[in-house]
Amino acid sequence: MSNSEIHEPAGRIENLRQKFLKLYGRHPEGIWRAPGRVNLIGEHTDYNLGYVLPFAIDKNALVAIRRKAQFEHSANELNLASTYGADEDPKVTSVPLDGLTPQSVSGWAAYPTAVVWALNQLDDVEISGFELLVDSDVPVGSGLSSSHALEVSTIVALKDLYDLGLSHTQMAQLTQRAENEFVGAPTGIMDQSASLMSRAENALFLDCRSMESRAVPLPLAQNDAVVLVIDTRVEHSHVDGGYAARRRSCEQAAEILRVPSLRDVGTVDELQVIEDELVRRRAKHIVTENQRVLDTVQALEAGDLQAVGKLLYQSHVSMRDDYEISCEELDTAVEASLAAGAIGARMTGGGFGGSSIALIHREQIEAVSQAVLEAFAQAGFKAPNIFTVVADQGAGRA
Ligand code: GLA
Repeated sequence: MSNSEIHEPAGRIENLRQKFLKLYGRHPEGIWRAPGRVNLIGEHTDYNLGYVLPFAIDKNALVAIRRKAQFEHSANELNLASTYGADEDPKVTSVPLDGLTPQSVSGWAAYPTAVVWALNQLDDVEISGFELLVDSDVPVGSGLSSSHALEVSTIVALKDLYDLGLSHTQMAQLTQRAENEFVGAPTGIMDQSASLMSRAENALFLDCRSMESRAVPLPLAQNDAVVLVIDTRVEHSHVDGGYAARRRSCEQAAEILRVPSLRDVGTVDELQVIEDELVRRRAKHIVTENQRVLDTVQALEAGDLQAVGKLLYQSHVSMRDDYEISCEELDTAVEASLAAGAIGARMTGGGFGGSSIALIHREQIEAVSQAVLEAFAQAGFKAPNIFTVVADQGAGRA
């Protein structure tokens, strides 16, 4: 796939190559890219082994890498730097690989390190030191998976460089292990999968139990529709308690129902035996959300965007009222989008901040953006970042 087809300006790649040379004094062996994602629908269903429907977006983490030779100084050390916010030479973080233990690295450097750690847990793999420079335009803390983009770009690079022969599913599982065990965030498998497996102009319909997936065409162009992202700039983090607490409630519900996961619950009626009202409501979100994913796939295949729009909003209401992971800024963005004529809108991603999406007709971009900006100003919120996204191709060599 050529660079133009993956919406990556060649200039950005060349720029990174030059910056790498300037910083480390050598050329990188290559540059790899991994996109962030928007989840169209299917929220918090992944760790309940249910269905998700995300797509990769035209915002990427690019990593330039050069492996160190055995005789080099600090051969078994990672040197990690980012162009983010760096006017002059980026600051280099050094991480020795000998005796590396989970949660011993903080900040963004934890993500590429976590991937190396996870790979080195495999019997037949030994990754040693390398130099890395990352350049990412996935907004940090926006709920668009900036951290997963970084992990995925690192793993696709190492897979190529070490000829590891890993499948997409194996790479998704390894990056999930990196995130869960090394970084310490109890997240599911959706974000990595979207970044690895997506196809341009399609959403990725993934069954998180079997890991079977298929591309579902997004009928946007023929309907003159686009997806608008509203980044509320309320930063979220999944290392914090809210995400883990939701996950625990789901596990509790599955235990009470004596099923391996909430994926195995077919109807809301089956939840009546759960006495704890809060746990019941959390489980209700998961059961209804799984059905909404299936319904959305059908509606997309029928080219019925109005039906998709309704499902998006139902999903938002469920997250707001039953799963309680929305916030005032996200609700304001969703309601203002709909009032200004959006076909559908919902918060996307883990919640507690981050972004919402609105499915709109192309000619509404201005009106919807304006309406959201005004609603935010009126409520006294920080101005959001608003932009359209394109469903892009999954990760690979840039
Ligand atoms: C975060 C996690 C995902 C998923 C979503 C919620 O993005 O990384 O695994 O659980 O939240 O759908």
